[in-house]
Amino acid sequence: MRLAITPLHPLLMAEVRGVCLGSDRDPSLLAELEAALDIHAVVALPAQNLTDDEQIAASGLFGDLSFALNPGRARGQNARLRAELYDISNLDENHTILDERDRRRQWRESDKLWHTDRSFINAPTSYSMLSGRIVPPNGGNTEFADMRAAWDDLPAATKIRIENLQAEHSVWHSRALCGGRDFRPDEVAAMPPVAQPLVRVHPRTRRKSLVLASHARRIVGWPDVEGVALLRELTDYAIQPKYTYSYKWSPGDLVIWDNRCTMHRGTNYDDKAYSRDMRRTTVQGPSKYMSQAA
Ligand code: OGA
Ligand code: MN
Repeated sequence: MRLAITPLHPLLMAEVRGVCLGSDRDPSLLAELEAALDIHAVVALPAQNLTDDEQIAASGLFGDLSFALNPGRARGQNARLRAELYDISNLDENHTILDERDRRRQWRESDKLWHTDRSFINAPTSYSMLSGRIVPPNGGNTEFADMRAAWDDLPAATKIRIENLQAEHSVWHSRALCGGRDFRPDEVAAMPPVAQPLVRVHPRTRRKSLVLASHARRIVGWPDVEGVALLRELTDYAIQPKYTYSYKWSPGDLVIWDNRCTMHRGTNYDDKAYSRDMRRTTVQGPSKYMSQAA
C-alpha cells in the first residue's frame, strides 16, 4: 500500500496522499486509488494543481470522458472551457464574475440542490473529478451524502417496497426547482427525461445504494403526488448529518466522487464578490488504466 489514506468521516470521504495524477501512471497505484474510492466513495487529493491537459488525461484513465454541453449560455455566448471540462464556476468566457442576470448563474444555482451528476442522461456515469482552481475565502464547500449507508439502514419493509421502482430524472426539473423557466426548445429537446432504478448495485463493490437526485421528478407508474412524496421522504432521510460530509476546498485540490453511490451539492458563498473556478471532468464506463498506463 503506497497511498496514505486518512478517513474524514466514519462512512464516506477520505484524504489521499501519495499519488500525483498529473504524472503517475502506474496501474497498481491507480488501482489503489480506485480501491480507496470503493471504500470511501469520495476522495480528496490535496495539492494536485492540475492543468486542464493533465486533468483530462488523468480522468481518461478512469473511463470514457463525457462531453460538457455547458448549457445555460444564451445563444452566441462562447463556453469558457473546452468541451471535456464542465464549467462549475461563476465566471463568464472572459473569466470575470457573471452578471447577476446571466442565465449561466441561474443554471449553476441547481448545483446547490442534492444531486448526482448526469442521472438525467442514459449513460453509466461513474466518477466526477472536480478540480479547485480558485476557491472563495468563505463558503463554497462541496457536501457529500453516502447513499450506500442510507440504503443499508432502511427498514426491511421499506427496502422490499422500493427495491424495484424506477424514478424519472430530468435536468429541467432541477433547474425549475431553482426558478429557471426560460428554457429554449432546442435545449429541452437535447436532454429528454430518462428512467433510472431507485436502487442500484455497484458494479465493483456489489453494495446497494439509493439513487436519488434533485433531477428525480416522479416514480414511474405511480401517481405524481405519491411519487413526489416518496422521493422527498427518502431524500430527507438520506441527507441526515450522519450520512454527510462537508468538504472545504483549498486551491489545487482534486476531489473525486463516485456518482453510483453518493449525492453531492455545493454550498453558498459570496458569488458576486469572489471568483470560484472549479472544473469538472466526468467519466463513464469501466476504468482503463490497466490497458492505458505506461
Ligand atoms: C459538480 C457540482 C458542486 C460545487 O461539480 O458537479 O455539483 O460545490 N459541484 O460546485
Ligand atoms: Mn454536480
